[in-house]
Amino acid sequence: MLPMSIIWTEPRVPMTALASAALSYTPEVAAATQPLYDRVSRIIPSMEWPLMAPLVAEINRLKRERNAVILAHNYQTPEIYHCVADIVGDSLALAQKAADSDADVIVQAGVHFMAETSKLLNPDKIVLIPDDRAGCSLAESVTGADVRLLREAYPGVPVVTYVNTSAEVKAESDICCTSGNAVKVVESLGVDRVLFIPDEYLGKYVASQTDVEIITWKGHCEVHERFTGDEIRGYRSGAGNENLVVIAHPECPPDVIEASDFAGSTAQMLDYVRSKRPPKVLMVTECSMSDNIAAEVTDVEFVRPCNLCPHMKRITLDNILHSLQTLEPRVEVDPMVAERARRAVERMLAVGR
Ligand code: 13P
Ligand code: SF4
Repeated sequence: MLPMSIIWTEPRVPMTALASAALSYTPEVAAATQPLYDRVSRIIPSMEWPLMAPLVAEINRLKRERNAVILAHNYQTPEIYHCVADIVGDSLALAQKAADSDADVIVQAGVHFMAETSKLLNPDKIVLIPDDRAGCSLAESVTGADVRLLREAYPGVPVVTYVNTSAEVKAESDICCTSGNAVKVVESLGVDRVLFIPDEYLGKYVASQTDVEIITWKGHCEVHERFTGDEIRGYRSGAGNENLVVIAHPECPPDVIEASDFAGSTAQMLDYVRSKRPPKVLMVTECSMSDNIAAEVTDVEFVRPCNLCPHMKRITLDNILHSLQTLEPRVEVDPMVAERARRAVERMLAVGR
C-alpha cells in the first residue's frame, strides 16, 4: 500500500441527511462498484471503500437519470477522479470538453472559475458546482476594475488573462489562456508586448519561453507559491534520490522551475509521467496529482511534497451527490458579462493547445 499523501482536516465522507438517506453498502453495491474500486485500490484503503461505494453507485445512477456529465480537474481526489468523473483533465481540456458537451447538466468537480467557464460555453445548460465556496487565490487577486485601470496605463497593449479568473475579468480581456497553451496564445497575437494577468509566476515562465514582452500582475497561487528552490534541491540531495526527476507546474516561483527538469500544465505533467516513466518522480504541485497517477501507473515511485488546495478539496462525493439530487448550487453569469467573457474564452479555444 502506498502512503496516503492527503491530510484530511474533516471526515473524508461527511454525510448530509439528504445525500446519505437510504444508502448503504449492500452486496449489490459492493459487486457493482468492485471494478471502480479496482482502479483505486492502491490508493484508497479497503476499509474506507464501504463508506464511499454507496455514494459512488448512487452518483453514477443519478448521472444517467439526469443526463449529467461530471467534469473533474486533475486535482480532485481519487474516488472522484477515477470513480465518478466522465471527463478528467487540466483547465484547458475541461473547457474544450465543456464546449463539446451534449449533456443537460454539467457538474464541475473543480473550482468556481472552472464552473463559470463551463457555463459561459453552455449558457442553456444547468451547470452545478457542488460547493460554491470553492474559489481560487488567483481568481481573487484581480477584478474587472483592475483590468480597466491597466488598459488606461498601457493603452493598446492586449490583455491575456489566465482562465483562473472570474467571468467579470475575462469580459475585460482580449483572450484567455491556460498553463497548457499560454505561450501559444501570447504568440498568436502577433504583438511585441502583452499584459498577462493575474499569475506573476506563470507570466515569468511564459516570458522565459518567448520574445514577446510580458507585463505581469502580482497574483499568486497559494498552493504553488509555497514551494521553494531550496526544497527541490533538498529532495534531489536526499539518499536514494540521485536520479530523481522533478516536474513542476508553472504557477511555481521561478527558482522552483529552474530547479526542475520539466514544467507544464497538470495534463502535461501527467503525460510526462505516462510517456517517459521516470523510475522516481517528484511532482511539484497539488497532492491529488500524485495519488491519481499512482493509482494508474505502477512502475513509478512518487516523492510527494504535498501541498493541498483547500478550494479543490471542498468538492466531495457527498456534495456531488447532493448537487445531482437538488440540481443546486447552480452557476449563473450575467448575460452581458457572459457575452464578452465568452469571446475571450472562444478566442483561446480557437488557438488550441
Ligand atoms: P491546469 O490548467 O494546469 O490544470 O492548472 C489549473 C490550476 O488551477 C493549477 O493550480
Ligand atoms: Fe487556484 Fe492554486 Fe487552487 Fe489551482 S491550486 S485552484 S491556482 S488556489
